[in-house]
Amino acid sequence: MISVRKYEKKDFDGVRFACLNSTGEEYDPIVSEFILRTYCDYYIEHEPENCFVLDDDGKAVGYIICTENYDDYKEIFDKEYLPLIKPLGEERYKWALESTILQNKYKADYPAHMHIDILPAYHRHGFGGKLLTALFDHLREKGIKGVMLTAGTENLNAGSFYKKYGFEQLEIYDTDVAFGMKLI
Ligand SMILES: CC(C)(COP(=O)(O)OP(=O)(O)OC[C@H]1O[C@@H](n2cnc3c(N)ncnc32)[C@H](O)[C@@H]1OP(=O)(O)O)[C@@H](O)C(=O)NCCC(=O)NCCS
Repeated sequence: MISVRKYEKKDFDGVRFACLNSTGEEYDPIVSEFILRTYCDYYIEHEPENCFVLDDDGKAVGYIICTENYDDYKEIFDKEYLPLIKPLGEERYKWALESTILQNKYKADYPAHMHIDILPAYHRHGFGGKLLTALFDHLREKGIKGVMLTAGTENLNAGSFYKKYGFEQLEIYDTDVAFGMKLI
């Protein structure tokens, strides 16, 4: 049976696998490490209570991961994760740092930000929408005003997905588009 549920410790490897395998692209070990350290590990290690998984028979096959407060995230990310990314190369380090900057501009209305990824076999069955609903309900209960994210400008499927579920397109940058959803 396929359902959405809260993240549990046993999902750690499944979530990291989905993070690296949601698009069908293959990454070498250094790029994989960079992606996990930059876009995944903080959320499941520091805010597991704000993460949900798509569960197929006990196995995580997709996820939505989130921080509820940008400033708290940024402090820990800079202290704990950037030093792990530094040895992966100067360019990657700069990219990781830049990936944490844009959210600052929107934090008054959108203090939370999120990432979502689902394994390809489960795309386009409405599961992404179900993960969004689970996260929105959870953040509303906590009194969080809004959630935002950035998607690659070239990721047209993701852009279409966020618009379909009511996100506002906040701004288009060179490589990223910022989307936001007000929750209360
Ligand atoms: C983006 C993603 C999370 C959406 O989850 P999903 O379960 O496939 O989405 P849903 O079934 O709830 O919604 C489907 C909508 O998403 C968009 N979409 C998703 N995959 C698409 C595809 N391959 N082609 C075109 N549109 C697509 C469309 O708007 C679609 O609506 P439609 O079916 O009415 O045209 C999932 O496709 C995914 O993990 N993609 C790869 C990783 C990724 O891009 N993550 C987001 C990074 S910012």
